[in-house]
Amino acid sequence: MKLFLDTGFSEEVKSVREWCSIDGVTTNPSLIAKSGKSFRQAVGDICEVLPDGDISAEIISMEYSQMLEEALSISDISKNIVIKIPVSEQGLRLTEELSRRGIRTNLTLVFSLPQVLLCAKAGATYISVFMGRIDDIAFDNAVNILSNAVSVVEKYHYSSEILAASIRHPVHLVQTMQEGVHAVTVPYSVLKGLYKHPLTSSGIDRFMLDWEAAGLDLQK
Ligand code: G3P
Repeated sequence: MKLFLDTGFSEEVKSVREWCSIDGVTTNPSLIAKSGKSFRQAVGDICEVLPDGDISAEIISMEYSQMLEEALSISDISKNIVIKIPVSEQGLRLTEELSRRGIRTNLTLVFSLPQVLLCAKAGATYISVFMGRIDDIAFDNAVNILSNAVSVVEKYHYSSEILAASIRHPVHLVQTMQEGVHAVTVPYSVLKGLYKHPLTSSGIDRFMLDWEAAGLDLQK
């Protein structure tokens, strides 16, 4: 399973990289805005910290020729860029064109199975299904959509990978693992808490107390 960090901060990528092997970073216009840097600076810094990861950076136009121009210009930032495209008629058209040119894509703001099918047929590299935002409106079941999305791409042998996004808490991550989702992007606040467990902490404390009480030394 691929694990991405969902952030616009290269500092978060750097800090996570020290203890967790992530496969890439996903950004979006809101996350870049939070970084306080210019778009190219923020994305460039992330690519520099993680030169072998897949770094998703999003276009912002809705008109086809501008979308293509933006996608080509963003993909020039670094070889590891994946162009993030909101799903739409023009977005699907752009996905096909970029796929023909060998440029990888991440189709975003995906909430339904018909959208998944169209993204897969257009040749999307990743299809980002937003769990938290589906849960927010309680209109549909995010786990069912993800699970069915994985079945659709696998059953019909599409090359796309389903990427679970809008992860708000560790239970979302566990659900993606249970459903065999191909990739997941997790915010820093969630990722930082994942290795923690009260029994791990109390276990470490117990080992230390017993060690010290016995007066043990690693060199003896
Ligand atoms: O990558 C986009 C996604 O993670 C957005 O998350 O929490 O704003 O719905 P959220």
